[in-house]
Amino acid sequence: MGKLHIIDHPLIQHKLTIMRDKNTGSKDFRELLEEIALLLGYEVTRDFPLEDVEIETPLEKMTAKTISGKKVAIVPILRAGIGMIDGLVQLLPVARIGHIGLYRDETTHKPVVYYCKLPSDIDQRFVILTDPMLATGGSACDAISMLKESGCTNIRLMCLVSAPEGVEKVQAMHPDVDIYTCALDRCLDENCYIRPGLGDAGDRIFGTK
Ligand code: PRP
Ligand code: URA
Repeated sequence: MGKLHIIDHPLIQHKLTIMRDKNTGSKDFRELLEEIALLLGYEVTRDFPLEDVEIETPLEKMTAKTISGKKVAIVPILRAGIGMIDGLVQLLPVARIGHIGLYRDETTHKPVVYYCKLPSDIDQRFVILTDPMLATGGSACDAISMLKESGCTNIRLMCLVSAPEGVEKVQAMHPDVDIYTCALDRCLDENCYIRPGLGDAGDRIFGTK
């Protein structure tokens, strides 16, 4: 089963609390999401393999470490996943970026695909799939299936707030995918919103409500 990593670093928890507050506006919400994405990126890449290279410092030759292995693709689930790109790109400046467009149908709460554009060599890359909210898990599971259909074999899911239902669904359907989240909240409500959650992430990022 994929591992659930709950990243409880004090800086992340502090920033998340401000994001949850209903009085926090879009500007601060966006900035905090970007900062948290950067901090999460540190954890998501923690086990990247290293290899030795020979270099010369101004004083002598040495054997030093450099990242080896697959290149990275960042794939946000539209819309809200976009808010996590910039923080990650600060850490991984040459990563390619794909986009998967999904929205939840308001009555069935099932995801509907409306866009998919991925780097042509995505099957050769280590993929970080971003979406701040893991609620029922339907969107994440469908996005992971789309990535796998494109040949991806190394996928990690980066979220901000998760519900137990969403975690269970991803772990059941995609046991090879690790989940990185800042919080595991109590439950989903009758509208499949995460409680206590932070509301609608897309609306809060883009100021659409
Ligand atoms: C939100 C969120 C996730 C999805 C999570 O997107 O950003 O993509 O819901 O819910 P799930 O786990 O139950 O599938 P939404 O459908 O509201 O679209 P938006 O980002 O365009 O607002
Ligand atoms: N999507 C959101 O943006 N928030 C939730 O709580 C659930 C789904």
